Amino acid sequence: MFSMAQSLAFLLSITCSVATPTRRGISTISGGPWGNGCLWQNGTCENEGGYWFTQMEGVLDTMQSDYWNGSYWPTTIQWIGAVLDTLLVSSDRSLTNALIEYNGNVPGTKSSASQIQSEIHKYFLETEAYYGNEDTNQIFDAAYDDAQWVVLEWLEALKFIKSYDAYFKSSYGQNDTARFAHRAHIFYNIVQKQFDTSLCGGGLTWNPALATYKNSITNELFVSSSIGMYLYFPGDNNTDPYPSPTYRTATNKTLPPLPPLTAHDPLLLDNAKREWAWFKSQPFKNAQGLIIDGFHLSPNQTTCDQPNDMVYTYNQGVMLSGLRQLWEATGDTSYLEDAYEQIWSTINATGWYSLRRNDSDAWAGLGRNGVMEDYCDAPASCSQDAQMFKGIFFHHLDWFCEPLPTIAALVPDLTYTASNALASDHASRCKSYIPWVEHNAHAALATRNGSNIIGGWWGAAYANVSASSAQPSYAHAPPGQDPWNDPSVLRQSPWVCKGQNGCKSGRSTRGAGSRPPVVQNDTRTVQTEGSGLGVVKAASDLTLKRPPTYPSA
Ligand SMILES: *[C@@H]1O[C@H](CO)[C@@H](O)[C@H](O)[C@H]1NC(C)=O
Ligand SMILES: *[C@@H]1O[C@H](CO)[C@@H](O)[C@H](O)[C@H]1NC(C)=O
Ligand SMILES: *[C@@H]1O[C@H](CO)[C@@H](O)[C@H](O)[C@H]1NC(C)=O
Ligand SMILES: *[C@@H]1O[C@H](CO)[C@@H](O)[C@H](O)[C@H]1NC(C)=O
Ligand SMILES: *[C@@H]1O[C@H](CO)[C@@H](O)[C@H](O)[C@H]1NC(C)=O
Ligand SMILES: *[C@@H]1O[C@H](CO)[C@@H](O)[C@H](O)[C@H]1NC(C)=O
Ligand SMILES: *[C@@H]1O[C@H](CO)[C@@H](O)[C@H](O)[C@H]1NC(C)=O
Ligand SMILES: *[C@@H]1O[C@H](CO)[C@@H](O)[C@H](O)[C@H]1NC(C)=O
Ligand SMILES: *[C@@H]1O[C@H](CO)[C@@H](O)[C@H](O)[C@H]1NC(C)=O
Ligand SMILES: *[C@@H]1O[C@H](CO)[C@@H](O)[C@H](O)[C@H]1NC(C)=O
Ligand SMILES: *[C@@H]1O[C@H](CO)[C@@H](O)[C@H](O)[C@H]1NC(C)=O
Repeated sequence: MFSMAQSLAFLLSITCSVATPTRRGISTISGGPWGNGCLWQNGTCENEGGYWFTQMEGVLDTMQSDYWNGSYWPTTIQWIGAVLDTLLVSSDRSLTNALIEYNGNVPGTKSSASQIQSEIHKYFLETEAYYGNEDTNQIFDAAYDDAQWVVLEWLEALKFIKSYDAYFKSSYGQNDTARFAHRAHIFYNIVQKQFDTSLCGGGLTWNPALATYKNSITNELFVSSSIGMYLYFPGDNNTDPYPSPTYRTATNKTLPPLPPLTAHDPLLLDNAKREWAWFKSQPFKNAQGLIIDGFHLSPNQTTCDQPNDMVYTYNQGVMLSGLRQLWEATGDTSYLEDAYEQIWSTINATGWYSLRRNDSDAWAGLGRNGVMEDYCDAPASCSQDAQMFKGIFFHHLDWFCEPLPTIAALVPDLTYTASNALASDHASRCKSYIPWVEHNAHAALATRNGSNIIGGWWGAAYANVSASSAQPSYAHAPPGQDPWNDPSVLRQSPWVCKGQNGCKSGRSTRGAGSRPPVVQNDTRTVQTEGSGLGVVKAASDLTLKRPPTYPSA
């Protein structure tokens, strides 16, 4: 337990010109040929917070009106359900921030406190309903990434309850705390002891039913879920190990009791720290600084010697929230520096710093024209999984950019308080991302069809084409294998489990679904709408005032 109580009880008012993003170890690169302004097609765009707040309310309303059926999102698979619920309850946090910072009267909007309150309550009822309808049996026996989306989901709900009740001095949602915490605990328990040093020196494998694959998403999630549990999990003594009352009859499996887990258990911090140290020690970054998908092992090898060079947008994002929370728990600013560097590389790989605008062939590694894309977006060949990726990136960027807490009296002993200089530096770096985030949010909104559904290929506007159909001529060959878009490869080498390194065949191989088939050419789905919500929510949060987040003591 440490306390670094150097800051005084006042908030620094942050004055900064449009700061230029810097990448550690690389000299400052200005906005490049596009300048530093807010760019969207003709070089201007709205950047008043209220504009984005209203857009966020609209995108969320569309997502829930069109795809939520009162119980869940029936067209999607389980891990994506967990992500959609995370975005839903995180949006409730954004709405709560509008009450805290503006008393509901966000400048430039028609919002009012009572209207925002009723939105918050409507959406929280949906999160409560999803608690009861989440198909926990299916995701319980899925892969190690799947389990961790569920952990992040319920930690986000716990954070919402805390911030809402702290502001209103109420006990709203408090009767959910124990059950939400128990679910986070059950799903964290799946991965809690899975950091394995015998192969590749550490890390988690993606799916214990397949040959070892140490992939970036599972391991980035392990940073974020471990440190999130360390900071925000309230403890749980409920030893019922079953994800649902029907699990035993559905599977015939008997599980040992769930060991109790206390709040702020040091094991959780250790897991996050050693995971990130290991991740950095492995060659996960390509020449552009982008995180590749992962590593297989050649037969009889114990080192991660077979890279899968595929890059996806979400792999650039999920560790950002973990790194921010690692700073909260340790005060070590190198974690923040690692995140700034990753963000710089990601923005650059959309062509933001380096390319001419209005050139739809100018592929920059992870997009073009400053707009983020996954490889499968333009040809409309994304699986449900990949349609969700961009929204995940922006959600974690958004979270990373929450203000750092400066008021020592409010921050519990187990976390650090930022100096005013550090908080100001973080705020100005995050402010420098705003033009790019807005540019992407505009691009996403520009893909809406007549029913307001956001499409998958945000870059379509620069090619003057519709995002509603496949555009194979704008496709770019991926740099590596793409093991996600073709489930059949999971039954072949190098994926299939033949007992290598202790893998256990018979477990679900791609657990989080029974998934509906990929609907080619329908590029408007709950996933693409959810990705749109991710970027528009980030634009709203980054352009409005919001309070710092910290665990309560
Ligand atoms: C261009 O800028 C004008 C004025 O700022 C704005 O009204 C218009 O919508 C913009 N057009 C596009 C395509 O962004
Ligand atoms: C939601 O959809 C599922 C699957 O189609 C269905 O089983 C369930 O009854 C629906 N719930 C409501 C409230 O309509
Ligand atoms: C929690 O309390 C509210 C009323 O305050 C009630 O509507 C809700 O059903 C309760 N939830 C649980 C899980 O008991
Ligand atoms: C779990 O039990 C311990 C020991 O009795 C107690 O201190 C702790 O408050 C309990 N935690 C919860 C969340 O009930
Ligand atoms: C569970 O066991 C019963 C009785 O042995 C059997 O009929 C049923 O098929 C089993 N269910 C599963 C999911 O294996
Ligand atoms: C930035 O992106 C461009 C492609 O747009 C690439 O050529 C360049 O190498 C990248 N810079 C760095 C430092 O990664
Ligand atoms: C791996 O090791 C086993 C046992 O030592 C050996 O039989 C096998 O030939 C090796 N495989 C390769 C591809 O080297
Ligand atoms: C984009 O490029 C085309 C052809 O190079 C040009 O005709 C058009 O005016 C440009 N549009 C913008 C918004 O710069
Ligand atoms: C918009 O896209 C959705 C999803 O593909 C579709 O159901 C809806 O009919 C479309 N709306 C219009 C006006 O084309
Ligand atoms: C896109 O369409 C607009 C309006 O039709 C036109 O002004 C512009 O030049 C086109 N841009 C490209 C790149 O074709
Ligand atoms: C998708 O659209 C393309 C071009 O419009 C068409 O050639 C292709 O057959 C469509 N694919 C499916 C699965 O409908």
